[in-house]
Amino acid sequence: MGFRYVVRQSKPEDCGSILRLIKELAEFEGEDPDRAVQNTEEDLQDDCFGDHAYFRCLVTEAISDADHADKAERGTVVGYAMYFCAYSAWIGKLMYLEDLFVQPAHRGQGLGKALVCKVAQIGSEKGCKGMQWVVQDSNNSARQFYNRLDAVDMTATDGWRVMGLRGENFSHVANSLTNLETNNIQWLC
Ligand SMILES: CC(C)(COP(=O)(O)OP(=O)(O)OC[C@H]1O[C@@H](n2cnc3c(N)ncnc32)[C@H](O)[C@@H]1OP(=O)(O)O)[C@@H](O)C(=O)NCCC(=O)NCCS
Repeated sequence: MGFRYVVRQSKPEDCGSILRLIKELAEFEGEDPDRAVQNTEEDLQDDCFGDHAYFRCLVTEAISDADHADKAERGTVVGYAMYFCAYSAWIGKLMYLEDLFVQPAHRGQGLGKALVCKVAQIGSEKGCKGMQWVVQDSNNSARQFYNRLDAVDMTATDGWRVMGLRGENFSHVANSLTNLETNNIQWLC
């Protein structure tokens, strides 16, 4: 079956499909998606379309030739790129690519590259000076894909390590101020 593809900004009603693909990506990355993915469809709707947009998401819709012939034009979301604007103290605005995924049956046709290029174009139009993301060390296929874009492995070149706090560790740090004996700090924020 042949397909044609549409790349567009996500709509609130896409969040269920995006969550499905987020879980497929988590599984691809070796995680148990039901344990690792805590976000819900409602969270995604609030965080993308609520009072403050924490992220944006491009989706790729596949429309089969059969649907097209019927003029039904009902597409299926088969890929997505989630991104947001980050900030570097050294160089200013940066695009951050949070997730990129194309379902296996639709790979190798330029869809992944189209999504990355579109995120870069959106960032460039917003005045971003670059783009950043992380990729698993073991994800050789994605690393080769990024190599084709001439992306730089900053772990190798600059020696940065990605660090984070999650779950209880994050709560512990966030709640630590009350226990700190800090006589010489006045909090105005
Ligand atoms: C990585 C991924 C998004 C690529 O999507 P895709 O639609 O198959 O890639 P494209 O067809 O756009 O390929 C673009 C270029 O990368 C190359 N490429 C793609 N996959 C490659 C691979 N596994 N090995 C080597 N080159 C690859 C293509 O040959 C093409 O090269 P060209 O521009 O010279 O023609 C897709 O494989 C995927 O979803 N993988 C699983 C999830 C994942 O790893 N996401 C990234 C997490 S950081």
